Amino acid sequence: MSTQESDVYIGVAKSMELYHQAGQLIPGATQLISRRPTLYAYGFSPAYAVSAKGARFTDVDGNEFVDWVSGIGAVILGYCDPVVDAAVKAKIDTGTMYSISHPSELELAEILIERIPCAEMVRFAKGGGDACAVAVRIARGTTGKDKILFCGYHGWHDWYMAANLIDDEELDSHLFPGIEPIGVPKSLAGTAIPFPYGDVQALDATLEKHAGEVAAIMMEPLRSTMPEPGYLESVRKIADKHGVLLIFDEVSTGFRPTAGGTQPLVGVTPDIAVFAKSISNGYPMGAVVGTRAAMEPASQMFISSTYWSDTLGIQAAITSLTEVKNRDVPQTVQTTGRFMKEQTQKLIDEHGLPAEAAGVDWHPHFSFNVDNPETAKQLTTLFSQEMARRNVHMATSFYLNESHGDSECNQTLEAMNEAFKVISSGLATNSIAEKIECQPRVDIFRRLVS
Ligand SMILES: Cc1ncc(COP(=O)(O)O)c(C=O)c1O
Repeated sequence: MSTQESDVYIGVAKSMELYHQAGQLIPGATQLISRRPTLYAYGFSPAYAVSAKGARFTDVDGNEFVDWVSGIGAVILGYCDPVVDAAVKAKIDTGTMYSISHPSELELAEILIERIPCAEMVRFAKGGGDACAVAVRIARGTTGKDKILFCGYHGWHDWYMAANLIDDEELDSHLFPGIEPIGVPKSLAGTAIPFPYGDVQALDATLEKHAGEVAAIMMEPLRSTMPEPGYLESVRKIADKHGVLLIFDEVSTGFRPTAGGTQPLVGVTPDIAVFAKSISNGYPMGAVVGTRAAMEPASQMFISSTYWSDTLGIQAAITSLTEVKNRDVPQTVQTTGRFMKEQTQKLIDEHGLPAEAAGVDWHPHFSFNVDNPETAKQLTTLFSQEMARRNVHMATSFYLNESHGDSECNQTLEAMNEAFKVISSGLATNSIAEKIECQPRVDIFRRLVS
C-alpha cells in the first residue's frame, strides 16, 4: 500500500504546546490517565485530536493516524458510526433530557435483559467507574456487608482506591505503582481487599479470613487472555459457599467477545455485571445489570443522579447494541484481531525479536521478553515512537473496532515492519537508548488481570 498524502507525519508541536498549557489549567493535564502522552512516545505521539472517522483520527497538528486504541475501548463500531450518529442526532431534535423520564430507558433495559445472562433488572450510569461504584453500593446494601474483594481495575472511586490505604508490601504487586490514595478517607482502610487472578485457593482463604464481612467479589472475568478452564466456575462456587455476591466488571471487554458480553462466552453467570465504554460507541453511558434478588433492594437505596437519564447515551446504547448484533461485530473484530496477532508474530519472527504476540482475538497484544524491565520499557517506547512516525497510534496492543479494515491493517503492518527493523538493529548494536528521540514510556498503573 502506498503512503497517502495525509499519512505524512509532521510532528506534534501543537499537541505538546497544548499539553504543557493543560498542565497549568487542568491538574494532571488529562481527564483520563490513559490519555496521557507519556504512556506512548512522549514528544512523538499525538496528545490532542480534533476529529475522527472510522478507525482513524486527525490530531491538532494535522496528522492523520490509524488508531488502535479505539477511544480507550469505547469505540466498537468506529468513530462517527453513521447509524449511531443519525439516531443520536434525531434524538437531539426532540430534546435530550427532561424533567421526567423517557421511555427509551425501558427499551435499553429490555435489550440488556434479553441479551445478558445475569440481567433481570438494570440501573444506568454515565461511565465505567461510576457504574462500578453503583454496583458496589448495591452489593453492600443488598448483603448488609461492607468489604469488597476485588481483582482488576474498577475506576477511581473511594471504595476502590481504599485498597491502596493498606500498608502491606504484598500489595505492591497488585496495585498501581505510583498512585497514592491521596484524598481517600483513611477510615476506609481494609474495606477493599485485592486477590490474585487465577488463584482459587487464595480467594477462598481471603474469604475465610474475612468471613461474614464480605459483600461481594468484584472482578474482571477476563481482560486480554482467556481464564484457565474451570477458574470462573470455581469463583462462582466459592462466592455461593461464602454467601457473597459475584460482580463481573465487563467495562473493558464489553461487547467484543459476544453481543451479550463475556458471560455467554465463559458460561458463568454472576449476580451483577457492569458495562460502559463500548455499550454506546463513544457516547457517555454505563449500566449495572443483575439478578432480581441482587438488584431489587436498590429501590430502597439512595442511588440517584440527574444525567443518568440523559437520552443521548441511552439512545446511543440502544443503537450501538442493535448494530453490534445485526452487523455481527464480535465476529468482525475477532477475525481482524486474529489476523493482526498472527501477522505481528510473523514479523516478530522475521526480525528475530525477543517478543511474543498473544491475547484474545478482540484485544491481542505483544510483549518484549527481556529480563530488564527498563529495557522492556525502552523497547515499547521505541516501538510507539516509530509507529507514530509512520502515522499509527498504538502502544503494544490492538483494541479492535469494526472499522479496522484492510487499509488500516496494511498501513500498520508496513509500519510495524519498519519499526521492528529499527528495534532489531538497535538490539544488534546495543543502541536502543540512542534511537529513542522522546521520553521513555511511563507505566502509570498496572492492571490486576492480564
Ligand atoms: C474494567 C474497567 N472497569 C472500570 C473502568 C472505569 O471506566 P471509566 O473510565 O469509564 O470510568 C475501566 C476503564 O478503563 C475498566 O477497564
